[in-house]
Amino acid sequence: MDAIWPAAGLTDGSVLLRRWQPHDSDQFVALFDHEVARWSPQVSDQSDAALRGRLEQAASMPPEHLSQGYAIVEAERPDHLLGATDWRTSAPMPPFSLVDIGYLFGAHARGRGVATAALRLLGGWLLSPRGGDLRRIQLDHAVANAGSCRVAEKAGLTIEGRRPQFLPLRDTPGGPLVFHDTCLHGRVRPARTVG
Ligand SMILES: CC(C)(COP(=O)(O)OP(=O)(O)OC[C@H]1O[C@@H](n2cnc3c(N)ncnc32)[C@H](O)[C@@H]1OP(=O)(O)O)[C@@H](O)C(=O)NCCC(=O)NCCS
Repeated sequence: MDAIWPAAGLTDGSVLLRRWQPHDSDQFVALFDHEVARWSPQVSDQSDAALRGRLEQAASMPPEHLSQGYAIVEAERPDHLLGATDWRTSAPMPPFSLVDIGYLFGAHARGRGVATAALRLLGGWLLSPRGGDLRRIQLDHAVANAGSCRVAEKAGLTIEGRRPQFLPLRDTPGGPLVFHDTCLHGRVRPARTVG
């Protein structure tokens, strides 16, 4: 991906996706409640110190660097954090041309349509010539995570199938890892006319 993240971020007028800033730290840590812990794969340390460290690192990247992680805020109140999004490459690029998207929202932000708006906005940019110009974006959520399924569909990522035993989650805090079946969603770059 040789895109450059727009200096002013991405906005649809209601939500704004922008680079992390050091002062987001407290609000960032506060996003990680039991719902986030319940549905997020346990791939990284989610202690407060580790979360603050991740945020500091993202905030210190040069502005043109695609940090692969962005703050989601209200467009009218850019200091008011709603959620976080990132993307990962699951296959070597090139020749692959796809990313997996993740997202999470604070309890105060849920149920207002912001997840749908943010995912639609990010997906449109990643698949556009101005953005990543990828061929495909995708995401997996646990089959039981009905909210994430609805958000993905409404944002234009259609359901493509199931992946059995794909996602390691902790159903209870401190409990054992349980490998959940996931629902895979994808959205591909629109066909382009030449000339
Ligand atoms: C799942 C999550 C992203 C939804 O965010 P949100 O901002 O509340 O979603 P929206 O307001 O955009 O809602 C979009 C649709 O999903 C539905 N929805 C949202 N949460 C839901 C839930 N828990 N159960 C069923 N439907 C739900 C809404 O009703 C809406 O559908 P509608 O327009 O047909 O009424 C958010 O609750 C969250 O961050 N959860 C914890 C982390 C997580 O699950 N991340 C995704 C991991 S794959």
